[in-house]
Amino acid sequence: MDKLLIRGGAPLNGEIYASGAKNSALPILAASLLADSPLKVGNLPHLNDVTTMLELLGSMGVEVMLSDEMEVQVDTSNIQNLNARYELVKTMRASILVLGPLLARFQQASVALPGGCAIGSRPVNLHIEAMQAMGAEVSIVEGNIKAKVDGRLKGAKIIFEPVSVTGTENVIMAASLAEGVTTIENAAREPEVIDLANCLIQMGANIKGAGTDIITIEGVDRLEGATFSVMPDRVEVGTYLTAVAMTGGLVKIKSAKPKYLSSVILKLEDCGAIINQGEDWVEIKMDASRPQAISLTTGPYPSFPTDMQAQFVSLNSIAKGNSTVTETVFENRFMHVQEIARMGGNIALKGNTAVIEGINKLKGAPVMATDLRASASLVLAGLVAEGDTTIDRIYHIDRGYERIEEKLKILGADIERIS
Ligand code: EPU
Repeated sequence: MDKLLIRGGAPLNGEIYASGAKNSALPILAASLLADSPLKVGNLPHLNDVTTMLELLGSMGVEVMLSDEMEVQVDTSNIQNLNARYELVKTMRASILVLGPLLARFQQASVALPGGCAIGSRPVNLHIEAMQAMGAEVSIVEGNIKAKVDGRLKGAKIIFEPVSVTGTENVIMAASLAEGVTTIENAAREPEVIDLANCLIQMGANIKGAGTDIITIEGVDRLEGATFSVMPDRVEVGTYLTAVAMTGGLVKIKSAKPKYLSSVILKLEDCGAIINQGEDWVEIKMDASRPQAISLTTGPYPSFPTDMQAQFVSLNSIAKGNSTVTETVFENRFMHVQEIARMGGNIALKGNTAVIEGINKLKGAPVMATDLRASASLVLAGLVAEGDTTIDRIYHIDRGYERIEEKLKILGADIERIS
């Protein structure tokens, strides 16, 4: 099994490009199920989760053609089965995103129940309840969500509590082909929801309010293929910016959309980093030998993203001063804490808060990746640690970071993939 070997201590300098956003690519690929002609998706990141989604679509009979390096054409005209099988769903919870499109276009779907995952129990009750509100009959049979509807789904008023990103996305997709008007209250405002809505609008959907907490969708009779380019990955960009705030240096990231990263950029500035940005680039300069500790609480967009929490625990572990990091979105997203402690980090967990005493230096150690963002935090810790860090189980990183070791090498890091 591949590992990453990092020899810490090098500052990061240079330029890299942001990849396409995983959490935008996944719903957009699922949306291809709604179209009666091929959807071309560009700026797709090469990630295991994207491959899993393409495999899932392929297993249903969807034709996937790679038109060039970062573009695929997805054609659902020959779809043969409407099942999302457990073997694929269990490796990627985002598979639940096919539920809404399948029901809306084919009036039935069978999607394996995803089960728990490393960052918490992550139920899908909100997805199911929303489909029921739109007229679907849903039952759980042998671990599968079996859903069907007589005729078309019907527009409905859906109120999310708590706010759910993929839940909002499933409803937007289903409602786009439903009969009548659907309103979503307490909708997720994440930029990836806007990206999906923009893609659906190009396919012929009628969606208003994406990016606000009330979204209105007026169903249409059919959606057709379109050509759409996925937005840049704000979490990937945020991860590299945080790395530089820890190692020091000067890095420019191109093809980024920093306006979607405001909460993270503000925290990095509080740490002592100097950040310049344009519409599609961001540059970070960090002169101080260590960042200042900063406390934060995660929350739905536009609050500080839970997907950046682990990276900031890593940053705070070598910062000047003490801090607290509170996780409010997922109940168990602190698996990285024990691993950073193996490197000397001084972190105590009190409920959903990590209480961190910044230390001068972490020490390299063998550590284990437990989930995607936890793995990223270990890479950052390895970059500043004294000596060698080997990170095991890096398939977690490959789910969400495209060529992470290549990008970091370009910036001067001493990192390699070993088996
Ligand atoms: N929730 C429920 N019932 C549901 C759905 C969600 O109780 O039916 C709860 C969850 O347990 C959680 C909260 O609602 O406590 C919010 O979860 P949400 O549904 O928003 O998460 P998600 O849609 O499953 C997406 C991203 C995650 C990201 C979260 C929060 C995708 C494919 N995944 O997950 O990304 O952390 O939103 O922003 O978009 C990652 O990229 O590493 C990742 C985990």
